[in-house]
Amino acid sequence: MIKSIILAAGKGTRMKSKTPKVLHKIFDKTLVGYVIDAVNKTGLVDESYVIVGHQAERVEEYIKSSYTNARTVLQSPQLGTGHAVSMVCPFLEDFDGEIIILCGDTPLITSDTLEKFISFHRENKSDITVMSAFFDDPTNYGRIVRNYDDSLNSIVEEKDATKEQKTINEVNAGIYCLNWSKIKPAFSQLKTNNAQGEYYLTDIIKWGNEQGLSVNAHPLKNNEEIFGINSKVHLAEATKIMNKRILTKHMENGVTIVDPNSTWISEDTEIGQDTIIYPSTYIEGANKIGSDCKIGPFAHLRGDVVLEDGVKVGNFVEVKKSTIHKNTNACHLSYIGDSEIGERVNIGAGTITANYNPLTKTKSKTVLGNDVKIGSNSVLVAPVTIEEGANVAALSVITKNVPKWSLAITRAPLKVLENWVKKVLSK
Ligand code: UD1
Ligand code: MG
Repeated sequence: MIKSIILAAGKGTRMKSKTPKVLHKIFDKTLVGYVIDAVNKTGLVDESYVIVGHQAERVEEYIKSSYTNARTVLQSPQLGTGHAVSMVCPFLEDFDGEIIILCGDTPLITSDTLEKFISFHRENKSDITVMSAFFDDPTNYGRIVRNYDDSLNSIVEEKDATKEQKTINEVNAGIYCLNWSKIKPAFSQLKTNNAQGEYYLTDIIKWGNEQGLSVNAHPLKNNEEIFGINSKVHLAEATKIMNKRILTKHMENGVTIVDPNSTWISEDTEIGQDTIIYPSTYIEGANKIGSDCKIGPFAHLRGDVVLEDGVKVGNFVEVKKSTIHKNTNACHLSYIGDSEIGERVNIGAGTITANYNPLTKTKSKTVLGNDVKIGSNSVLVAPVTIEEGANVAALSVITKNVPKWSLAITRAPLKVLENWVKKVLSK
């Protein structure tokens, strides 16, 4: 199996944020999370090493709690991309397979592209393969310098490039595949005699050529995939690109999205055929939505949501960590959290599941059986179960379980004071 190295020690100054760059999020997944997921999705990589430096503890904590097959390696101080990769040498002393190297701030890379890149490396019996891309404006990227016969000569960084080299528009995309045991010696030989005084990972190309190894560049098809995030403007742009990609996939699979410009759907959401998503809907986290559902306008699914076929989640309804079984409706103004809701349930306008107890600081579950009807503006105080077929009258606050087929009502009795307006107000 392949190992991956993900570079994430850089500072990310332009994000102007307390949060480390790679922990910024697109929907609710971090930038580095997308990269690790893309690597894992290839099915070819069994372990990732994330190189951390700036705010290392926070990135470490995140990786540890989110991924079982990724670990962090500290790079301190940060002396360049070549130095960063060399940090894993002690962990891979006996490793004899391939390594792919990526950056933690390029969340749009896909597993499909990585698979093709690795296939190219293998089919060409390459020892070092670098991913390249053609940019109309190659400024700031390392340039791919080729020999007259088109073979790869070296990579020259913007700051070290001659005027002539700066006109090259094939750039280094920053993704590499290496036959580790052959390339490992390079990392003890890199020098800092360049404009930035750094150990450049890119120098392994020249080194490989000097050693007579097979060194190749493989151009990327879709430049979007290596879009690197350096600022919050980039973050918004990447979110838009990611979202468009996801919506297109759903529409191709038979989901109707009325207004793709105002609809946001996270990568880890599945949606069945003939479901209609109305405008201004925001869906984040991992969710499973069935067929023939109607969602929105103005709905918010916050993750860990399962909607079975034919469920309606309407205007200003927020759902989190809940399963809603077939043909249930929650059409207006509700919060449904930590709930299990049966089939054919009707959740009236303004129903709230009060899932959080501020005294114990814990969240509890609300369970509704099949065919339950909840009247408008009711509060279901969890933990609470409302059994099959029971009805809750409008404006009730339910603090106890309600047995099957009963009516629960907590409303204050209605008083009508006849002629009160005339007698009292108009005096
Ligand atoms: C690098 C490449 C350049 C390529 C570009 C693609 C080198 C020398 N140059 O340039 O050819 O076109 O990426 O985006 O590699 N990092 C560390 N430790 C360090 C330095 C950097 O972990 O000591 C990480 C950064 O956090 C970042 C990645 O490595 O994720 C790339 O570093 P960055 O400084 O952005 O490299 P570029 O100058 O953009
Ligand atoms: Mg740099």
